[in-house]
Parts: sequence; C-alpha cells; structure tokens
Amino acid sequence: EKIVLAYSGGLDTSVILKWLKETYDAEIIAFTADIGQKEELDGLEAKALQTGASKIYIDDLRDEFAADFIYPMFQAGALYEGQYLLGTSIARPLIAKRMVEIARAEGATAIAHGATGKGNDQVRFELTAAALAPELKVIAPWRSDEFQEEFPGRAEMIAYAEKHNIPVQASAAKPYSMDRNLLHISFESGMLEDPWFDSSDEANKSMYVLSVDPEDAPDQAEYVELDFVEGNCVGLNGAELTPLQVMEALNELGGKHGIGRVDMVENRFVGMKSRGVYETPGGTILFSAHRKMESLTMDREVMHLRDSLISKYSSIVYNGFWFAPERLAIQALVTESQKNVTGTVRIKLYKGNVIAAGVKSPVSLYNPDIATMEADPTKAYNQGDATGFIRLNALRLKVASGVEQTSKK
Ligand code: ARG
Ligand code: SIN
Repeated sequence: EKIVLAYSGGLDTSVILKWLKETYDAEIIAFTADIGQKEELDGLEAKALQTGASKIYIDDLRDEFAADFIYPMFQAGALYEGQYLLGTSIARPLIAKRMVEIARAEGATAIAHGATGKGNDQVRFELTAAALAPELKVIAPWRSDEFQEEFPGRAEMIAYAEKHNIPVQASAAKPYSMDRNLLHISFESGMLEDPWFDSSDEANKSMYVLSVDPEDAPDQAEYVELDFVEGNCVGLNGAELTPLQVMEALNELGGKHGIGRVDMVENRFVGMKSRGVYETPGGTILFSAHRKMESLTMDREVMHLRDSLISKYSSIVYNGFWFAPERLAIQALVTESQKNVTGTVRIKLYKGNVIAAGVKSPVSLYNPDIATMEADPTKAYNQGDATGFIRLNALRLKVASGVEQTSKK
C-alpha cells in the first residue's frame, strides 16, 4: 500500500510519517507544497527520507497559488467575519488538489494529513479530496484513538522522535502554532488561547515574522501605485509583475510599514470559537487598493450584488468548499463583475495604515461634470427630477406612517 502524506517537516507530521509507516505497513510518499512558507523548506528532503519516506515531492506551487487562488478570492472581496483575509483557508484546497494528483500518479490508495480533529483544516483537505478524487481513502491520525492514546501530548511525540531517530528542530520550543504562506502567517494556541492576552504588547514582539510593530515603522510615509486590469493587480509603480511578484513585493512593503496585523476570535466550522492572530501585509494593501479601484469603475448595482455575496463566499472558502459548485457559480458572477475594474490606485503606507492617495482609470464611471456642485455642462442631471423621485420613494413611508397614527388613536 502507498500513502501520500501532506508533510511539513515539523514534529507532528514527522511523527505521523513514521507512525503511518509502522501502523499501516505502507510505503509513505511525503509531499510538501511550496506556497511561500520560505525557510521552513530547508533540508526537508533529507529529513523526510531519514524519517522513513520512500520519496518526497516538494512542488513549487507559488505561481498557481497567487494566480488561481489568491487573485480570484481577492476579486470577490472575501473577508471572513469582517476581519480575516483567509490566508490559511485558501491554501488548503491547492495543497489537497496537488496531493490528490500525486496519489493518482503514484497509484496510492490513501492520502493522509496532520490536521487535528478540532480544526478547519481537516475539513478543507477532505472536502477537496472528496470533490476531486472520491475514490481515495483519507487517513487523519489525529482523529484515531490509537494515535491519541500513544500521543497524549508533545512530550510523547518528542520521545517517539528521539527513539526513532527523527530529526526534530530545537525550536520546537515555540509555544504557539504557526502556518505561513505567500498570503499570511497565522498564530494560534499557546498564550493566545487567553483572549485577554495582548498580542500587540511590547513583550510579544518576537512572535511576529512578516511585519514590524506599527510603532517601529518608518516615520516617513511611502507611496505605491497598483495597476489593475479586470480586477487583478498586474503591476506596481508602473512595472509589470506576475501575481506572485505582486504578492512578494506588497508583503515586503506592508511588512516594513507594520501593515496587516489582525487579532480576532473567530468561529470555526466545527462549532467552536478560536483565537487567531494574523499577519497579512501584502494582502491587506491589495484588498484595500482593489476596493478603491472598484469604487471608481464598478456599476452600483453590480457592486452591491457582488457585495451581498461576500459573506457567503467567505464562508464557502473558510469552510473548505473551494471546489464546490456554489463557489464556482459565485466566482462566475465575480469574474463578470470585474470586467471594468481597470486603472491605477495610489496608496500611502504609514505606520500600520493603508491610506487612499488617488485613483484613476481609462474606463472610470465617475463623471465630475455630473457630480459637480457647479453648473453641469452635460445637462445629464436635472435637479428638478429629484422632486418626483423622492415623492414616489416617500409614498409607502407616508402610507405606513398614516396607518400607524390611526391605529394609535
Ligand atoms: N484559523 C485559521 C483558519 O482556520 C488559521 C488556521 C491555521 N492552521 C494551522 N494548521 N496552523 O483558516
Ligand atoms: C488544526 O486543528 O489542525 C489547525 C487549526 C485548524 O485547522 O483550524
């Protein structure tokens, strides 16, 4: 039997690799998606082989992640519970998609992951697998009684790793869990489990990776121009860039200016509330600039229709239904809504803030001649028309008010 394991090289997936091999007497093929987690990839191949994998795939999916996952999601204006830019949620379907492809190419019968039974990630991996390869078995060790009994805590895992000569990083000391990719880093558990714990406190500085504290950001503001074509950012400061390059450059800029930190308690799909801290520097700039581009170029009714779907779309992504028909249906509407979202947005970055500093477009729907308080040269708008417009809109309010007053008598 062959099992493909989503492997990160951390303590959990290392132990799982060995445990799967022994428990299922199977050949384990490790798979790591490079989705921009950077240094975590160093030395991974040697580590996986030493831990017992027969083979490891380390696939660079960064371009695909940016172009086919992050960009369409940003066109939709997705934001979960008003704060979370879905950095982990959007990565899972891509990882699972590639894992399923490898399983098929290798003739594996099962895929396995190291997500716990309490979180969202297990759902995202497995719903994606169900949508793309329903024939594959899924193994989630964290949900099995045997595994839980053998590993009630970290100490047992570290002991197991030592016993089996599994290389474990000395920095297994970090008291919180991190997940990093091109879009964000998330931090959960440890001291963060106390919602009164102040993640912005000086004493917590060392946790952050992608951004400086806003207090430590440069005193000098910095400008950046984002060029959009049909809702996608295609360049910065006049230079054409790929989606991956845009994300990398914006992360750099945003991080330098302390942009994109979020600390929230969110609702997991499995029913519990959970506290998360996020660093999304580039995504926060992109999100804001995209909205400003839309403000100039998008039809009102199209915008309001798309906006009415943001909370739905965000839950779909958060809950792991990226490859579900309802996501594709909304995405088709989103793509259509972005046809005219073209032009340039100028943004000023300053101590954690993304400040609007201008917007222009060759296909702008904003007409200063119509909007002006001065005499309108186009005569497109007759102020007298507003009298009837208001009168008709007021009709039902007057009727309702009249009924209420009579019924009080
Ligand atoms: N709470 C976030 C989400 O559900 C982040 C999850 C982080 N996952 C992880 N394996 N550390 O999308
Ligand atoms: C996990 O439980 O594996 C990580 C957190 C989550 O999936 O929500």
